Amino acid sequence: MEKKIKIGLIGLGTVGSGVFKTLKSFDNIEVKSIAVKNLNKKRNIEGLDNSIITDDPYKIVNDPEIEIVAELVGGLEPAFDLIVTAIKNGKHVVTANKELLAKRGEELFKIAEENNKVVLYEAAIAGGIPIIMPIKTILAGNKISHIEAIVNGTTNYILTKMDVQGASYSDVLKEAQELGYAEADPTGDVEGYDAAYKIATLASITFQKRINIENVYREGITKIRTEDMIAANDLGYKIKLIASANMDENDNIDVRVHPMLVSKKSTLAHIDYVTNAVMLKGHPIGSITLSGPGAGEFPTASSVVGDILAIAAELGKSEYILPMMRCKHNSSAKMIDISETVNKYYLSINAKNNKGVIGKIGTICANNNISLASIVQRCVSENNTADITVITELVKEKDMQNAINQIVQDDNIVNSLIRVQV
Ligand code: HSE
Repeated sequence: MEKKIKIGLIGLGTVGSGVFKTLKSFDNIEVKSIAVKNLNKKRNIEGLDNSIITDDPYKIVNDPEIEIVAELVGGLEPAFDLIVTAIKNGKHVVTANKELLAKRGEELFKIAEENNKVVLYEAAIAGGIPIIMPIKTILAGNKISHIEAIVNGTTNYILTKMDVQGASYSDVLKEAQELGYAEADPTGDVEGYDAAYKIATLASITFQKRINIENVYREGITKIRTEDMIAANDLGYKIKLIASANMDENDNIDVRVHPMLVSKKSTLAHIDYVTNAVMLKGHPIGSITLSGPGAGEFPTASSVVGDILAIAAELGKSEYILPMMRCKHNSSAKMIDISETVNKYYLSINAKNNKGVIGKIGTICANNNISLASIVQRCVSENNTADITVITELVKEKDMQNAINQIVQDDNIVNSLIRVQV
């Protein structure tokens, strides 16, 4: 009979439960031990033998019989120490911890390589969508220069609902919290932190450079207004929280997360609710988009279990397993600051109904090297102000910020500034 590979799970929440249930159908794997926070919590998981549950995760990472540890609790500590201890004790690791990878990935991969162990993390980015393994293996022959992705289901759900229902951000957030799509403290999702962790790691493996998370520009969705949704639709766009990464011909790297007006003709405009999608452009592949469930018990378990099985298949067969899945790059990315980037912009200005207002805005834009693609004012409202919607051509971020500083000096209010997909 084939020897069973013993694994340990740290965490038995949504993802951990999905992993345990999925692994039951694999005869070559034995879940030897599971670490939980609260031993007394009632768990209704078929086939779960309570005797394998512990509240001490160090029992797992120090157990000489366990060959693979899956860390599914998230956060920086004790996750970092647990993973490092597991590696030093000769275990391979699978993790879904995007924050840890983005903030301490460099140290982690160095320790893993020094100990000839692998750390796999397919579940950390876009949940059930296979993206890490494809980039590292079957797409390895490509020079990928551009990624545009929707990697946060909570914000995509909120933006989709705002668009479909014409509801405000705060109303939809409340509803999303009631339905369990948004957390009680939604900051990590709505302010773009979660997406920033994911795109930082994605950019790092795609461009094979270390990405400092501090240099990833981040803007969330909390300021998006229903009026912006309507105006964007009129102009042929949807508003999405886009995580993007670009590398230019001089290897300058631009990684960011911010709301974006996305053309209705593009695939990303049609990725709705909690679905995620990652679009890659490179040579020789051209452009591809992978989409699917970015979170949830079984989609995330699919990625975790895939990683566990990939390691299990090679254990004992080679001294150096999964060479293509390892992290071997060490040089830091040359990162471009957002102020140095060139973008198209959507601008919503509320202006007093004075003669020449549009002329003045046009002059300020011209004086700052900004060429306008479109300018729309539909009517004057009862309070004698008018909403003016502007779309620019490609302009420098610095020039745009200068123009805004000048536009607001004339009693105009700039309600929104959102970058537009190029
Ligand atoms: N909070 C994430 C999201 C899921 O809303 O997509 C876990 O990465």
